[in-house]
Amino acid sequence: MALIEAEHLVKEYKRKIPREGMKGALYHMFHPEYETFKAVNDISFSVEEGEAVGYIGPNGSGKSTTIKMLTGILTPTAGTIRVNGRIPTKERIKNNRDIGVVTGNRSLLFWDVPVIESFKLFQKMYEIPDAVYRDNLEKFTELLGLVPLLSLPERQLSLGQKMRCNITAAFLHDPKIVYLDEPTIGLDTSSKNRIRSFIRQVNEEKKTTFIITSHDFRDIEALCKRIILINHGKKIVDDQIENVRKEFERYKNIRFEVEDNWKLKTGGYFMPGVKLSFEDHYYVDAEYELEKTEAKMVIDFVSQYCQIKDISITGRAIEAIIEDILTTEEK
Ligand SMILES: Nc1ncnc2c1ncn2[C@@H]1O[C@H](COP(=O)(O)OP(=O)(O)OP(=O)(O)O)[C@@H](O)[C@H]1O
Ligand SMILES: [Mg+2]
Repeated sequence: MALIEAEHLVKEYKRKIPREGMKGALYHMFHPEYETFKAVNDISFSVEEGEAVGYIGPNGSGKSTTIKMLTGILTPTAGTIRVNGRIPTKERIKNNRDIGVVTGNRSLLFWDVPVIESFKLFQKMYEIPDAVYRDNLEKFTELLGLVPLLSLPERQLSLGQKMRCNITAAFLHDPKIVYLDEPTIGLDTSSKNRIRSFIRQVNEEKKTTFIITSHDFRDIEALCKRIILINHGKKIVDDQIENVRKEFERYKNIRFEVEDNWKLKTGGYFMPGVKLSFEDHYYVDAEYELEKTEAKMVIDFVSQYCQIKDISITGRAIEAIIEDILTTEEK
């Protein structure tokens, strides 16, 4: 059996029905009317032990709602969840021992006490054996650069420092599964990198299972082999990133380094299915549609007008591919 099994998950929320115009809005303020809508609408998936899955989708698509149901904070309106064989909302305490939760906008730490005291409290709460606590604390402190932070209360930490401490707190009890809901939101590149390499290391060494939501695709590409893409509460794609790339890639790019791009740039030449752009005098970028043409034809075309010195072919960023899938979906 998979470590996480979600079947036909539904979560309904109530929302106020918006009214048009000032009069309507005022009337509505005193006489609100509500409708129910499905923030998560029949989603099923399973995750095997040791997997790291990117749970992605646009704002409001239902990612955080799903994570909250998986962690046992929210009860699904319909459908079933089993995490390590348990129903999270029914066996919350046992489930909590198996999981760690990191969210970009809520902290696990105490506002006014030194970080290390928060960690000690977690040790007591989770009954973490001394040796495990010490080992983990030492290792995580080093990997995440926490030494200067341990004696400070959370209120004195910057966003990035807070996040690093929160991640440590979530991992101290060696959870089997960690849910990360936007763990790098608002952080600078070096903090992001540090957090990514920490997560990768734990995933490799301890075979910890991860579900990660992020709007930064570099997080997803660095950490996950598989993505689940949702939109309007429905699952659209559930596959290995490599397969998504192969299946949905519609364009590729060839970058030519040339002696001089002037003739092609100014001559008004074009080729169906190819979009040309130019940088300085020495580069030509040709984005071509895989359905309409192929690399060799594009190279032949450019070579008619430029002396080619070097060529590199790249796929599009996964972010752009996902954007295409979502745009097609909305049509
Ligand atoms: N407690 C709530 N009550 C009513 N509606 C809610 C509640 N929480 C979320 N929603 C609505 O449910 C939908 C899904 O929200 P959710 O937070 O799961 O989205 P998300 O995919 O995490 O988005 P984001 O990328 O912005 O974090 C949104 O339309 C949101 O407004
Ligand atoms: Mg969210």
